[in-house]
Amino acid sequence: MPTITTRKFIQTTGIVLAGLVLAACSKQEPAAPAASAPAAAPAAAKVYVVGTDAAYAPFESQNEKGEIVGFDIDVVKAVAQKAGIEVKFLNTPWEGIFNSVAQGDRDLLVSSITITPERQQTLDFSAPYFDAQQLIAVKSDSKIAKFDDLKKLKVGVQNGTTGDEVITKLQGKDSPNVKRFESTPLALKEMESGGVDAVVADNGVVVHYVNNNPNSKFKTLADSSFAAEQYGIAVKKGNTELLAKINQGLAGIREDGTYARIYAQYFGSAPVPAAAASK
Ligand code: ARG
Repeated sequence: MPTITTRKFIQTTGIVLAGLVLAACSKQEPAAPAASAPAAAPAAAKVYVVGTDAAYAPFESQNEKGEIVGFDIDVVKAVAQKAGIEVKFLNTPWEGIFNSVAQGDRDLLVSSITITPERQQTLDFSAPYFDAQQLIAVKSDSKIAKFDDLKKLKVGVQNGTTGDEVITKLQGKDSPNVKRFESTPLALKEMESGGVDAVVADNGVVVHYVNNNPNSKFKTLADSSFAAEQYGIAVKKGNTELLAKINQGLAGIREDGTYARIYAQYFGSAPVPAAAASK
């Protein structure tokens, strides 16, 4: 009797174990070929490289551990999960960021990039994922009241951004008073030391900086002359396959409430009012 019981036990255990192993396997992706198999890499293992200029909080920045974090990052991670693709983020200077995707060093760009007709000539964009607008930052005691007041003043911008475009249009292409910086925080730092009279950049970033740097004593000025802007995720021109996945993921996270949850986490439940930080 004890022999039968033991055998039965082993049989039963064996079946249960086999079942568990099968269940565990079926949850996973198809197994990758063994290490000894010929070099053909499994197509499913593709990790899309996402370029971002991580000096643009709260959209993309580096935390104390050097990890790239922010609203854009969370959105793309959620999009990727929905679309069933893998992504990794690489800090990429704004200068040259568009080239990095054209040359194939990056598959995707998420960097608070405003969709513009000019950029659409060399890149393809996803559906818009965020509404933005330019916003002016000045010292709290500044007399500057509107965008037009900046005509003859020194204005700091991040080189090659839409902020650069609007002030270049106001002052003229050859104006010596447009001060172009590698990053938006550098432009804002320069205003702290008195090197520029104003900074023009995206509202979300300006509001975030002013709120988080009370010692700088800055205030913000909205201006009705600024056009509405929309951020898009960019891919190499003609990469319709990847773009379709991104758009599908984006639609998916809008539909299931993930987008709204991420948005609320960074900006509260309502869109950022352009003059939220005016004091
Ligand atoms: N939205 C602006 C533009 O497209 C500024 C974006 C800057 N982004 C950044 N991560 N530095 O020109």
